[in-house]
Amino acid sequence: MKFLDWARAAAVMAAPLAAAANVQPSTPEALPGSYLVEFSDDYSHLDFISLLAASGVHATPRRTLSSSVFRGLSFTLTDIHGDQDSTVQLIASMPEISWISPVHSIAAPANRFMTAGESTTWDVPHAIRARQAEDVEVIHQLTGVDKLREEGYLGTGIKVAVVDSGIDYTHPALGGCFGEGCLVSFGADLVGDSIQNPAPSDDPFTSCHGHGTHVAGLVAAQPNEYGFTGVAPNVTLGMYRVLDCQGRGSTDFTIDAFLRAFDAGADVITASLGEYSGWSEERWSVVIARIAAAGVPCLVAVGNDGFYGPFYASNGAPGKDATGVGSFNGPLANMFLVKASYSTGHDNLTAPTTNFGYSPAVGKDFSNGTYALHVLSRDITASADACEPLPANSTVSLSDKVVLVRRGGCSFAVKAQNVADAGGRRILFYNNEPGTYEPGVNTKGIESAGMIPQSTGEEWIQLLANSTQAITVHMVETASAGKLYKVEENKLAGGFASYFSQWGPSNELSLLPTVLSPGAFMMSTYPLAKGGYAVESGTSMATPYLAGCIALMIEARGKISPGTINALFAATASPNMFHDGKTEYPWLGPVIQQGAGMLDAYKAVHSDIIINTASISFNDTENRTPQEFTIHNRGAELVIFNLGSVGSGTVYTLAADGTRIPSVFDYADFPETVTEYATLSFDPAVVVVGQDQTVTVRVSAEPPAGLDESRIPVYNGYVTLNGTNGDSYSIPYLGVASAMRDAVILDTEHGENQLSSSTDAEPILTPGHTFYLPSPNSTADGGGNISYPAFNLRLSMGSRLVEASVIQPGPSNSTTNSTGTAHVVGSVPNFPKLFQSRHVSGPRTFWWDGTLSTGEAVPAGKYSLLVRALKIFGDQEFEEDYDVVQTPEFFIRYI
Ligand SMILES: *[C@@H]1O[C@H](CO)[C@@H](O)[C@H](O)[C@H]1NC(C)=O
Ligand SMILES: *[C@@H]1O[C@H](CO)[C@@H](O)[C@H](O)[C@H]1NC(C)=O
Ligand SMILES: *[C@@H]1O[C@H](CO)[C@@H](O)[C@H](O)[C@H]1NC(C)=O
Ligand SMILES: *[C@@H]1O[C@H](CO)[C@@H](O)[C@H](O)[C@H]1NC(C)=O
Ligand SMILES: *[C@@H]1O[C@H](CO)[C@@H](O)[C@H](O)[C@H]1NC(C)=O
Ligand SMILES: *[C@@H]1O[C@H](CO)[C@@H](O)[C@H](O)[C@H]1NC(C)=O
Ligand SMILES: *[C@@H]1O[C@H](CO)[C@@H](O)[C@H](O)[C@H]1NC(C)=O
Ligand SMILES: *[C@@H]1O[C@H](CO)[C@@H](O)[C@H](O)[C@H]1NC(C)=O
Ligand SMILES: *[C@@H]1O[C@H](CO)[C@@H](O)[C@H](O)[C@H]1NC(C)=O
Repeated sequence: MKFLDWARAAAVMAAPLAAAANVQPSTPEALPGSYLVEFSDDYSHLDFISLLAASGVHATPRRTLSSSVFRGLSFTLTDIHGDQDSTVQLIASMPEISWISPVHSIAAPANRFMTAGESTTWDVPHAIRARQAEDVEVIHQLTGVDKLREEGYLGTGIKVAVVDSGIDYTHPALGGCFGEGCLVSFGADLVGDSIQNPAPSDDPFTSCHGHGTHVAGLVAAQPNEYGFTGVAPNVTLGMYRVLDCQGRGSTDFTIDAFLRAFDAGADVITASLGEYSGWSEERWSVVIARIAAAGVPCLVAVGNDGFYGPFYASNGAPGKDATGVGSFNGPLANMFLVKASYSTGHDNLTAPTTNFGYSPAVGKDFSNGTYALHVLSRDITASADACEPLPANSTVSLSDKVVLVRRGGCSFAVKAQNVADAGGRRILFYNNEPGTYEPGVNTKGIESAGMIPQSTGEEWIQLLANSTQAITVHMVETASAGKLYKVEENKLAGGFASYFSQWGPSNELSLLPTVLSPGAFMMSTYPLAKGGYAVESGTSMATPYLAGCIALMIEARGKISPGTINALFAATASPNMFHDGKTEYPWLGPVIQQGAGMLDAYKAVHSDIIINTASISFNDTENRTPQEFTIHNRGAELVIFNLGSVGSGTVYTLAADGTRIPSVFDYADFPETVTEYATLSFDPAVVVVGQDQTVTVRVSAEPPAGLDESRIPVYNGYVTLNGTNGDSYSIPYLGVASAMRDAVILDTEHGENQLSSSTDAEPILTPGHTFYLPSPNSTADGGGNISYPAFNLRLSMGSRLVEASVIQPGPSNSTTNSTGTAHVVGSVPNFPKLFQSRHVSGPRTFWWDGTLSTGEAVPAGKYSLLVRALKIFGDQEFEEDYDVVQTPEFFIRYI
């Protein structure tokens, strides 16, 4: 069957994925008139453009994809304003192609990173420095990479391809050169400096965007002044640049990069970018599944929108045997800060000074000066410092001081306003969690602001409590201040899933993430022009780390299938307790957040036991069937396994209040979790696996009883295998204790999925409203009377197929509300949309301008809009498997 994915608007892209919790997703963006086709198996005619021209379709080529796993072409239609949908239908019907899809753009979220500068001072606690001095890196100790390296596994002979924003290979820690014999030995630039004007070249060098250089260093950085190395420093690296200087890219270039990396013989391909989707049939996921089936592991970062809670998967990672990588926090927080100093006592310029560092607020730099520090509260747990107006009776003048304010309880803007109202002009916020970032402060009256680490704020307050009279800070403008490299212990959430790490499962209930890898406060290389080194957080960092581990595994075990690689990392990973970013809870974290758990590279590489799956999905109540897995013993001795299971928190996707949007994960505010677990039974329950034997186990699940099905409860946990050889393994499992087909996609009860006007967001609930549209052939401006029918579309869960049609009421029945008697005039332009993720942070409102997807304008008259979203696991052919909303009838008139 021909696959027709011709929605022109893209789902949201979030790439590259450096820590961006709470960063709003970028607006969907399609590259106008650009499509990707896959050629049919028997089509060998490579001049598809001429073939199109022969059918009257004129286009310019974008990218030729020719690989053993995918042959096709992307192109841009010459006439991007014409009747595109008919053109696409025409192309779709050509026997030469098997599939057509629009090219989507991708855009970078605001990265949170800190770079080194010209003069960097170290502030590394002695205990940590001692460990680093022996060149035993804390993070590699935690993951077991240190032990693999001691055994001589460094990735020698393994080719790792990175698909990202280019690389500064002139960096001494990245080998200093490009090509044969260099660390960075293959790759290409597919995009150039601007996606708007692609300028491909054979040279993947970039210094305008640092993400790719950081990612590459995590795989293979060489020894350097900061005492860290990549996981696998002896690999050869490939860089396929698909993101431009603004971090923007497109799906066809990304797919092309994967194909080229595969054809170049890469042993591992890793990408820290993506687009929200969560469907395995989405094209990049399909291409990844094919490359994995051909034997090459493909890693994709699962994303940094942990804030939005369950069922928010991206694309790529849902592909069969793809490796979806989530992030856990290492035990340390690395920071590059702007350097300043303080002394104790009142404004005494001869007193000895101590360095401290801070992250300046954008546009609120400090000027050179010495200021008394004014502390608002000496309570280092103050939960709402400066959230209320400061006491009016305060006798001190704040105008010549720096005010110290603890983060938390209200926004920086509220705190800054209260300080400004009390006459303050300069603020240092101290963080209430590890690390720092640039606080957002635009308050009038505040001249300078920044954020210091929690440890610095607490130290100052302690000094004052310990009879120090006063603290004086000496600030230097950022441009000449120099940098401070600071490392502190990540006391709060070290070892737990990072709060930003995005949750699965996929819309089809396969488990994401596969496994967690370290991704918070990661030190790595950065373009020399941007300081040479940087600390970044995100699943973008976790992903290349695991890619390095996979390189070590392939070096040690030889070529093994991507499915087996995933299964080895999953079986040997360590699940951890749930942590909301502030507090640990007495139950295991849900597998839809932490996957198999934290990776243990040493155990994975050396495991003699190979289980054939990385996860078990019991699907939903309508599709629940017993599952099977196999245990293969490659060790010398017979092993007897006792099989059991341990539950992790059962997650209610939806809150109890009837809302249809999955609950967010925002510190103490997270999806309701209950400790009722499924009962798993095994056949056999005790498994004897002799040397070189493979035994099949059947496992079935009885979901916990008494759950509220309307809230989409996800039960989950781990199958445990305790062997007589002392080894234990676990396999994450999940299931949904309701029918996904019942999940509401188009909720109309909470003010969304309704008709309104482009000039007034109030819903239009009664029939008969008249919209005045500009006449298709008119140049008049409508005198301000123009308003379009607007539909605030909000998918509360993902949908494979979303249609929006224009309906004309049946001739004899003007108030009919049923499509049965009404007449479908055509599709709204840009519909249908395929493989949609759910809509977070508000509706995606579309305006109807009176035209159909064929480009033709409908005559003035009475219409309504009919929006249909296919339910999860629904059958496209069955009317009852759609969520349907029909708007009240309205009139359109042209002026
Ligand atoms: C790793 O690379 C270094 C530098 O090229 C080389 O000296 C060393 O022998 C390599 N190690 C292994 C195990 O191949
Ligand atoms: C300034 O600090 C130095 C060193 O702590 C001390 O010797 C000196 O007396 C101080 N001067 C004043 C004016 O406080
Ligand atoms: C601020 O101080 C730094 C370091 O002492 C110096 O290099 C810089 O020129 C000063 N800036 C101004 C504007 O005085
Ligand atoms: C200011 O007023 C608050 C409450 O009105 C009181 O608790 C505090 O002691 C007062 N401070 C001074 C310095 O008078
Ligand atoms: C404050 O005093 C306590 C108790 O003497 C001591 O443990 C602590 O290190 C001191 N803190 C600072 C910042 O001087
Ligand atoms: C769950 O069942 C649906 C419907 O049969 C299927 O499409 C989907 O792939 C299944 N999910 C998993 C993880 O097997
Ligand atoms: C396997 O070991 C784990 C950890 O010690 C334990 O929680 C679990 O109950 C054991 N399972 C079986 C079936 O013995
Ligand atoms: C606009 O112009 C085209 C071509 O001139 C004509 O076919 C069409 O009917 C006109 N449409 C309207 C709404 O007047
Ligand atoms: C509209 O259609 C319904 C159902 O077919 C029918 O019962 C009703 O009489 C019709 N109304 C008019 C005004 O024709």
